[in-house]
Amino acid sequence: MTALRGKTLLASGFHMPERRIVDELADALITIGEDGEILSIRRPGEPTYEAEKRAASAKGNLVTLPAGAYILPGFVDLHVHAPQYPQLGQALDVPLEVWLHQYTFPLEARYADIAFARRSYGLLVDDLLASGTTTALYFATIHQDATRLLADICLERGQRALIGKVTMDNQDQCPQSYRDASPDAAIGGTLALIEYINSHPDNREGRILPVITPRFIPSCTDATLEGLGDLAKSCGCHVQTHCSESDWEHGYVLSRHGMTDTESLDRFGLVGRRSVLAHANFLTPLDMETIRMRQAAVAHCPVSNAYFANAVFPLKATLEKGLHVGLGTDISGGPIGSMFDAMRGAIMVSRILESGTDPDLPPEARSRRADTRIDFRDAFYLATTGGGVALDLPIGRFEPGCQFDALVIDTTAERGTIRLWGDLDHGEAILQKIVYTASKPNITTVWVGGRPIA
Ligand code: GUN
Ligand code: FE
Repeated sequence: MTALRGKTLLASGFHMPERRIVDELADALITIGEDGEILSIRRPGEPTYEAEKRAASAKGNLVTLPAGAYILPGFVDLHVHAPQYPQLGQALDVPLEVWLHQYTFPLEARYADIAFARRSYGLLVDDLLASGTTTALYFATIHQDATRLLADICLERGQRALIGKVTMDNQDQCPQSYRDASPDAAIGGTLALIEYINSHPDNREGRILPVITPRFIPSCTDATLEGLGDLAKSCGCHVQTHCSESDWEHGYVLSRHGMTDTESLDRFGLVGRRSVLAHANFLTPLDMETIRMRQAAVAHCPVSNAYFANAVFPLKATLEKGLHVGLGTDISGGPIGSMFDAMRGAIMVSRILESGTDPDLPPEARSRRADTRIDFRDAFYLATTGGGVALDLPIGRFEPGCQFDALVIDTTAERGTIRLWGDLDHGEAILQKIVYTASKPNITTVWVGGRPIA
């Protein structure tokens, strides 16, 4: 597909600048600047529409999408463990704390081997881009070289990425073969990655950003959490961690710090406008208020939560309270790397939370939560605009000033899984079908900042 920098795209599609409101673009003219930013969007009927279309066409700058193709904003995956890609679809038969020690830490330790890292990270980034994930918030490993390589690969393949060197130095919770040697090593390694990414000669546009990444409270010493909180304050970088994910994890922090994950992370200065807390399944009302006040975000990971969380995240309540929320696949706690599955998972678990689960109970006793359901609009909002807002980046929607990160859904792709019926499917009903039934063969083009992904 064509590069769109300095061009005008004539296309139909959907985006949701605001929650609950689908904005359908029908034969819209989207003009993209030389830096990948959307300059203007014109719709048929607007005064300058015809003239701008003719002018772009005369200059050979008009790119027209075929009928049956729809553009969507590129997906923002708010929670990915890049090194866990080799175990995607494996090892989900044990609780979180066993999974980490039995499978995950040994796998992540292998990224000391740069050849292993190169193969795994290359496949992952290509796979996610082909799945429409134009921005990913990545946990890497504790290793400096492999984490730098992940940044290099994202720069080379064209993905927008936020990348953290994982910090984990608590001897009680991390194996000797896979942990930072000391708080100094954990904090110094984080600083070194920040400097590497910020001064990378191929990163002048800032498409790759460094992230302060305490794995979660159990794996970190207080000295490291404190040092990372100070660093967050001084550098203004993004922060990511896991928060109140499972009964075990939530209970561990309650007993070690005498407070919830959110309260503790907040005391260390790790809950701010650019913080993303993964899972956050067991938030108290006070935790929710803290996250809202700090304008931090939650990465809701519905698929992974089915295996590890021991509960369903009350998504609707957090949205109604005004928290920033996006979606994460949580590769490989979630065994699927596609944001379509994250959207479908979010809808499904929201319905199950409302209906209840135990068929032996009478209907009125089966669920203790009313009004938890979300629909395809909420799910699509979370995967696009919600992710952009969570990261405080101009992505996830088609508006002047935003980067043109987008994918094309070809609803006519024969090997795809979308079947539109001309007289039945119109307007946002088409988006609904895309959200529920699209698969990889329907994704025919992906752009990041107006650049086509090979
Ligand atoms: N908590 C700490 N590390 C991890 C991880 O790798 N995956 C998940 N899902 N939770 C974690
Ligand atoms: Fe995770």
